[in-house]
Amino acid sequence: MREGIAQAIKRADYAAPAYWIRSVELTFDLDPARTIVASRMRVERNASGNGGALRLHGEDIEPLRVLANGQSVSFRVEGRELVIDNPPEGDFTLEIRNTCAPEKNTHLSGLYTSGGGFFTQCEAEGFRRITYFLDRPDVMAVYTVTLRANKARYPVLLSNGNLVEQGELDNGRHYAKWHDPFPKPSYLFALVAADLVAREQHVRTRSGKDHLLQVWVRRGDLDKTEHAMNSLIASVVWDEARFRLPLDLERFMIVAVGDFNMGAMENKGLNIFNTKYVLANAATATDSDFADIESVVGHEYFHNWTGNRITCRDWFQLSLKEGLTVFRDQEFSMDMAGSASARAVKRILDVRTLRERQFPEDAGTMAHPVRPDEYVAIDNFYTATVYEKGAEVVRMMQTLVGREGFAKGMALYFERHDGRAVTCDDFAQSIADANPGSELARTLPHFKRWYGRAGTPHLTARGRYDAPTRTYTLALEQHTPATPGQAEKLPFVIPVAMGLLTRDGRPMALRLEDEPADKAAEERVLVLDEARAFYTFVDVDSEPVPSLLRHFSAPVRLHDGLSDDELLVLLAHDPDPFNRWEAGQRTALHRLLAAVRDGQPLQLDAAFVEAMRGVLRHETLDPAFKDLTLTPPTETYVAEQLDHVDPQRIHAAREAMVLQLARDLRADWEWAWETHQVGGAYSPDAVQAGRRALANPALQMLCLDATARGDVLWQGKAYQRFKDASNMTDRQGALWALLASHSEMADPALQRFHDQFRDDALVIDKWFILQAAAPEKDGRVFARAKALLKHPDFTLANPNRARSLIRTLCGENPAAFHRTDAAGYVFWAERVIELDAINPQLASRVARALDRWATLAEPYRSAAREAIARVAARAELSDDVREVVTRALE
Ligand code: PHE
Ligand code: ZN
Repeated sequence: MREGIAQAIKRADYAAPAYWIRSVELTFDLDPARTIVASRMRVERNASGNGGALRLHGEDIEPLRVLANGQSVSFRVEGRELVIDNPPEGDFTLEIRNTCAPEKNTHLSGLYTSGGGFFTQCEAEGFRRITYFLDRPDVMAVYTVTLRANKARYPVLLSNGNLVEQGELDNGRHYAKWHDPFPKPSYLFALVAADLVAREQHVRTRSGKDHLLQVWVRRGDLDKTEHAMNSLIASVVWDEARFRLPLDLERFMIVAVGDFNMGAMENKGLNIFNTKYVLANAATATDSDFADIESVVGHEYFHNWTGNRITCRDWFQLSLKEGLTVFRDQEFSMDMAGSASARAVKRILDVRTLRERQFPEDAGTMAHPVRPDEYVAIDNFYTATVYEKGAEVVRMMQTLVGREGFAKGMALYFERHDGRAVTCDDFAQSIADANPGSELARTLPHFKRWYGRAGTPHLTARGRYDAPTRTYTLALEQHTPATPGQAEKLPFVIPVAMGLLTRDGRPMALRLEDEPADKAAEERVLVLDEARAFYTFVDVDSEPVPSLLRHFSAPVRLHDGLSDDELLVLLAHDPDPFNRWEAGQRTALHRLLAAVRDGQPLQLDAAFVEAMRGVLRHETLDPAFKDLTLTPPTETYVAEQLDHVDPQRIHAAREAMVLQLARDLRADWEWAWETHQVGGAYSPDAVQAGRRALANPALQMLCLDATARGDVLWQGKAYQRFKDASNMTDRQGALWALLASHSEMADPALQRFHDQFRDDALVIDKWFILQAAAPEKDGRVFARAKALLKHPDFTLANPNRARSLIRTLCGENPAAFHRTDAAGYVFWAERVIELDAINPQLASRVARALDRWATLAEPYRSAAREAIARVAARAELSDDVREVVTRALE
């Protein structure tokens, strides 16, 4: 189907392997230039296969020798495979010796060096860059690993499982031997050899077993590990309490590494983390960094069951572990947040991410189902669809079977599949089978379309009130636009959590026609499983305001046609905080879209401003919730509502809206700033963080308004706060206030920030991010970003640093990136090409910044297409980038 992409791998072609590898002993002689790997494998023929040649994966490595049952055996290297045409009959032992070059490994996949140590990253297909193997997740083996290295340079030697032996060798070398009793796929293998130190904690779990938890970091970073350790302990406790899933290892390790392509990796017993998701203290990390660390530590820990104990049969099933584990980490963070409003804040943040990353993906050239049907480079499918939409699919299952029912379903899933490599179908079947009679069991075959079909459904709702019969009829209708390769869409199963409010904001009892009177609740879930359906509510005394899709009960675009007045009722009164927030966002969105469409300067009406004042001054609402409600939808989100996107117009409209809110609510922002200061010792908890989440934007609004009036008072205050802040949240908040208001004090503040934190890589990343994310004005932000490429601290070799400048500019600052002179696209093309030569995974993520080029208005559209075509025309491109640009042009 996709011509131009020759080697697409298809889900339909899955076949079990002809051979199994049941156990493997690995010995590493670690050397940055030339590491020698000796592998000894127990190989079995697959009884149901027909044998034939044994084809092992291998990439960028050199074979030295191959023995079968101790005898040399003839082999050949064919592309990225090592082929043994005539392996011995029956089961046999295969021994392979090969070399690899860790210090030359800039892809950061396989075995590589970082900060003078050795680290590995094997998911998805990195193990084949270490040694020859059946590098596919359905081949599970027991690993025994011996590491040998210079003791002075690499005093710490780690691998999966338990340490069984260690000692000295000649020439200043030492060794350690590790054994992991759990059979695992090769993507979960890991080793670390480096000069590190650990924070340690012993914990006793419910079953009474003792476990050792460790967080390994470079010397000097120990004072930044407390939060990660606390998050790990909380994760252990939570998974046992919520899902009865205990820690199954004697030792559980987290290791931080400065060069890492992703967030973190769940290798069995030896999680390897990007430093960004481990290191934090009050001086260097913001409240959201603390929250991210908690959720990523949880995520990787939860993989120990969902991913490691039960893994994926093939990479098309990636969401089996990722969607489920994202769902679990979201639930964990919500439970940790505590109060109902803090939970709602977390839900809003998650939905925002989904709608800003996944919805565009689902509407763009890389659209794919949660369970994709084909790929060229699997690394390209670690996407918002597989992760975040996958989590929403799991969340819908929980909605359809209830929280208890879902826990029962999880228990059945482990009962059936523990220790195996399975599919998304197996998971859905377990949840349904554990809940016979549930809406999930009733609709299962149709429900599973969420796995197989791409695209975001549109859900249209129309209500009709009939006063004489006191009935209210709600018509729900769904439609999903075509996506690449999937023209026709059958109906999805859409759970619609909803309520009805009176015009003065009181919740109504909900009773459907033909239901007994005792069925009346104030919230219920309608399950739409056809193209359209009608629901008639009885005993409705007055015309209601419908509150639909509460807590975002399905990943759809809702069109309910509510008027501004109705939305204002929901904003003021909806008992569901998510929909309350959503109502506020929609009133803002209507105004932004109107301004963008007719190109008129935006002028806010009193009703809207007063509603926003009401939220800001509200007596009981959570401050973090207020911030979310007062922040207008992002430019990216606005763009997603339009067929012809002019990023500059959107930027102008949104800037005008923010400025007017700053001006009209000046006294209220002053009140918010003064009343939300936090005294005492810093803590990242939801209460303190919530206050800062309102105080800092208040400062920004005050700066913006004052600076626009030529008054420097608030800039001075912001600079003062920037200097004196006792924590990074407030320091960065004040610096951002100066940058966002284009204050002249922004430059001296940036200079000072750099001087103060020059030795802290993660903070210097923030320094780049802030400058690349600043609101564009007269092309200055773009010009600065370009100049920063030459800054001595900038490098493409470190993924965090490269992302902090390039991804931020191209992916998160539309007005700086989309320029009428196309300079942003030229910048993009140059960086994609440069990065691709170093690190294809990273390059391909940057490449995706132009996924949505086709909806751009002219002159952006043609210029963007030309830039993509220029990249696509290169002869030398990785599969990763080639797949992205080829699909973009289809
Ligand atoms: N499996 C990791 C996670 O989601 C992500 C990852 C993928 C990391 C590929 C590295 C490489 O937890
Ligand atoms: Zn994951």
